[in-house]
Amino acid sequence: MTEHKTQIYSSNWMVAAAFASYLCDEIAKVKVFHIALSGGSTPKLLFQILAEVYKDKIDWTTVHLYWGDERCVAPDDEQSNYLTTSTLLIQQVPIPATNIHRVYGESPQKKEAIRYGKELQDNLPQQSGIPVFDMVLLGMGTDGHTASIFPHEIALLESDEICAVATHPDSGQKRITITGRVINAAKQVHFLITGSAKSPVLDEIFNEKGQYKKYPASYITQAEWWMDKEAGRFL
Ligand code: 6PG
Repeated sequence: MTEHKTQIYSSNWMVAAAFASYLCDEIAKVKVFHIALSGGSTPKLLFQILAEVYKDKIDWTTVHLYWGDERCVAPDDEQSNYLTTSTLLIQQVPIPATNIHRVYGESPQKKEAIRYGKELQDNLPQQSGIPVFDMVLLGMGTDGHTASIFPHEIALLESDEICAVATHPDSGQKRITITGRVINAAKQVHFLITGSAKSPVLDEIFNEKGQYKKYPASYITQAEWWMDKEAGRFL
């Protein structure tokens, strides 16, 4: 049975507050900190806490923001992961515009996957040709997807590409995602997962039962799992 490093807190707010404090300490240890952010709704609380509590506690000139995945929409579209981060965090803290490495969701998809992969290679240290983030922040869907690596495209975990074009299984929405090898090459990988809807999948993954082998999140090795007690109720 795979051992999972886990931190369980009483509420989603406590998860975000604890992780924000941890992130602040990690950023302070290095001169430059490259982090790939997750999308969706879970990180919103983290962004708000970073903006309200850590605006003056973090040297934002040392932080470079990237996205682990982005919806193929314009940056002002409400579906945009960039827009969420920009509204809740980027516009609230003194981070230089040159430190924001946005995925161009509005661009032709395949071309953008190639461009973003090159942007990662140009800005990050590499290990055997794979860009190495200081940290990758991930969420997890109720289908066990992470970033935009969905069960029906689980081969993206092993893709030779740095970034790929993915397709949401229900909506058909196109996404740009970093691939599994980039995620697993990161110095640190952290899942932020909250809410009872995620608890059955976490139960399957942690206890290696049911459909866990079909879940891309199962294959993210060396991750630390930060969750609230609702998400972790079966663990
Ligand atoms: C996205 C995400 C995706 C997300 C999970 C969880 O673009 O939607 O990157 O992987 O992290 O779907 O989403 P919630 O946090 O909204 O539950």
